[in-house]
This record gives sequence, structure tokens and C-alpha cells, in this order.
Amino acid sequence: MEPITIRRATLADAVKLSAISIQTFYDTFTGTCTEEDMESFLKDYFHLKQVQLELSNENDFYYLAEQQGKAVGYLRWMEDYNNFPLMKQWKSLELKRIYVLKEFHGKGVAQQLMDFALQYASANQYQVVWLGVWEHNLRAQKFYEKYSFVNSGHTHDFPIGTTPQTDWWFWKFL
Ligand SMILES: CC(C)(COP(=O)(O)OP(=O)(O)OC[C@H]1O[C@@H](n2cnc3c(N)ncnc32)[C@H](O)[C@@H]1OP(=O)(O)O)[C@@H](O)C(=O)NCCC(=O)NCCS
Repeated sequence: MEPITIRRATLADAVKLSAISIQTFYDTFTGTCTEEDMESFLKDYFHLKQVQLELSNENDFYYLAEQQGKAVGYLRWMEDYNNFPLMKQWKSLELKRIYVLKEFHGKGVAQQLMDFALQYASANQYQVVWLGVWEHNLRAQKFYEKYSFVNSGHTHDFPIGTTPQTDWWFWKFL
């Protein structure tokens, strides 16, 4: 396989990031909600203006994994306790997204991204990294468990439009 490089995304990557966000979210969750719910979710969370807004925030970290300049996966992390205030007792990093194109699953791209995120967390003295994962997303759960993330036992609602979904919070103490 051609090598994968990882770099922080900038405002100039907004179109690229919006496109891979839409594609990977659609591929992961299609069939778990209505098409209308999917459409409105994609529009709310991943449209260009929203992505540009997030990329303009220096505390919101997006990274692209690229192969010969083509985006094949991405990461997003942030120190943001809004969704899980319990984490405030530690210096915690929320791994908000790790998404890889379907054709690159099982090929080590996700590992490269996860290693990269964990290195950042350690280098910046984070005590814990946490993330939300849909209760039925068993592939992702297995992947996180390979990195010694464990199910914290805490859940949160992650509705896609009008379709209710429940996510587990997984965490890994460093
Ligand atoms: C989650 C993701 C980043 C993991 O990357 P990946 O390259 O697929 O991960 P890996 O192949 O290294 O690991 C997945 C593991 O789950 C296993 N697996 C696959 N399907 C499974 C299933 N239905 N149930 C349980 N385990 C499963 C695989 O066999 C593998 O374990 P192994 O290495 O012991 O064989 C990637 O699948 C992805 O981008 N998925 C879509 C987006 C997504 O779900 N993101 C996470 C949102 S929380």
C-alpha cells in the first residue's frame, strides 16, 4: 500500500474535509435511520460553512490522513467537556471523530490515526482520552478495545434527526 501521511487540516481543506465527513458518516450509518434524518444530519453537521467554522477554531483539531494527496480518513479531537462534564476532574481529551473510508478499513490507516492521537494526548499531558461510540457499532468498539479503551458504563443520546440512538462513552486512562 502507498504510504499514508497525516497532517492538520486548515481552512483550505474545508471542501475536502466536508466531502470525506459526509461520505464516511453516510457509509457508517445509512440504514440505521430514515433517509430524511440522514440528509438533515449531513446538512447540519458537515456542510461547508459548519466545517469552515470548526476549522477556524484553533482549539478544534482536525487531521487528514492522505494517500498521494487524496483524503482516506480523518480525525477530530478537542478538549471539550460540554458533552460529558464528569470528565472535568481530569485533564481529558475528547476524540470526537475517527473515520476512515470503507476501502481502507483493516489496512492500518485507523491504527496510524489512533497512534497519532494518543501520542498527542501523552505529549500534552492528558490523563484520559474519551470518545462516544454507537452501541451497535461493534467494529469500532473492537478497534477501540484493541487500544485498551474500555466502556465507561456511561451513555449519551446521539439522535440522527428524529431517530434516537445511544452511544457509549469509552475511555482510556493514560
Ligand atoms: C472504526 C474504524 C476507524 C476502525 O478502523 P479499522 O481499520 O476498521 O479497524 P481494524 O480493522 O484495525 O479493527 C477492527 C476490528 O473489528 C473486527 N470486526 C470487524 N467487524 C466486526 C463486527 N461486526 N463485530 C465485532 N468485531 C468486528 C475486525 O476483525 C478487527 O479486529 P481484528 O483486528 O482483531 O481482526 C473504521 O472501521 C471506520 O472508519 N469505521 C467507520 C466510521 C466509524 O465507525 N468511526 C467510529 C465512530 S465511533
